[in-house]
Amino acid sequence: MQLSKIYNEDCLITMANMEDEFVDFVITSPPYDDIRNYNGYNFEFEKITRQLFRVIKKGGVMVWVVADATVDGSETGTSFRQALFFKEIGFRLHDTMIYYKNNPMPQTGNRYHQHFEYMFVLSKGSPKTFNPITEPTKYHGLANMKNRGQNGSLDYEKVERTKEKKIGNVFCYSVGGGISTKDKIAYGHPAIFPEKLVIDQINTWTNEEDLVYDPFMGSGTTAKIAHILNRKWIGSEISEQYIEIANKRLDIYTANMLQFKINPAELFDL
Ligand SMILES: C[S@@+](CC[C@H](N)C(=O)[O-])C[C@H]1O[C@@H](n2cnc3c(N)ncnc32)[C@H](O)[C@@H]1O
Repeated sequence: MQLSKIYNEDCLITMANMEDEFVDFVITSPPYDDIRNYNGYNFEFEKITRQLFRVIKKGGVMVWVVADATVDGSETGTSFRQALFFKEIGFRLHDTMIYYKNNPMPQTGNRYHQHFEYMFVLSKGSPKTFNPITEPTKYHGLANMKNRGQNGSLDYEKVERTKEKKIGNVFCYSVGGGISTKDKIAYGHPAIFPEKLVIDQINTWTNEEDLVYDPFMGSGTTAKIAHILNRKWIGSEISEQYIEIANKRLDIYTANMLQFKINPAELFDL
């Protein structure tokens, strides 16, 4: 299969051409609950996720970013149903992470503002790569630490706390025009990832040269970031209009890099 390419087709077709255990990592945000109308395309959740399980390598990880619509006064619960289905077909629900939006669209009505989406971290067996993001510790020395045991028990162990510690599993990002990305063209798509979210997840679960796949590529965020981080990548996007945006975005980015001789890593403080 050709890499560094977004296939303009249903992701089921792209994956049908992939051999088993082909990709190291998937990060994606599916078209969920018709919250937005992506040119009328919908997706076959169960078929697609079974294919994703097949094409992900043993030890590979998928980050599935999703939220619920509210229908007839109730959240649909689709996200939870999807998470449980992933377990049924063999994935581990390795972690339920939160994508917290510092500045969500304010909402009227009798609910608090919707600040978050889920980032289900699904793995095929135990993740083969984990490069945790760290932050400085306030206190170091010996401390009691919790450890989630195999049988679900919580074990405590004395651990020497170092000067750096893993951050928590709530990742916070500012979002919106000019913030999620500086690429103006990307905003022709209604639901783009903040680039920083993709940077953090790719860095955590992959190493350089690993192959990253996004079955719902939209404006091309995953492709751009995978390229910057020296990962191989491949994608699918069913809408011709969005694939045009993604390809233009990648072209503009590459042209700027060449013209201004910028090291892409400097753009993101990597
Ligand atoms: C939530 S958006 C993804 C946005 C993307 N994360 C970004 O940063 O721009 C979901 C995308 O899935 C596409 N899509 C819907 N059904 C699809 C299918 N069966 N195969 C491939 N793409 C599909 C939609 O056109 C839409 O662009």
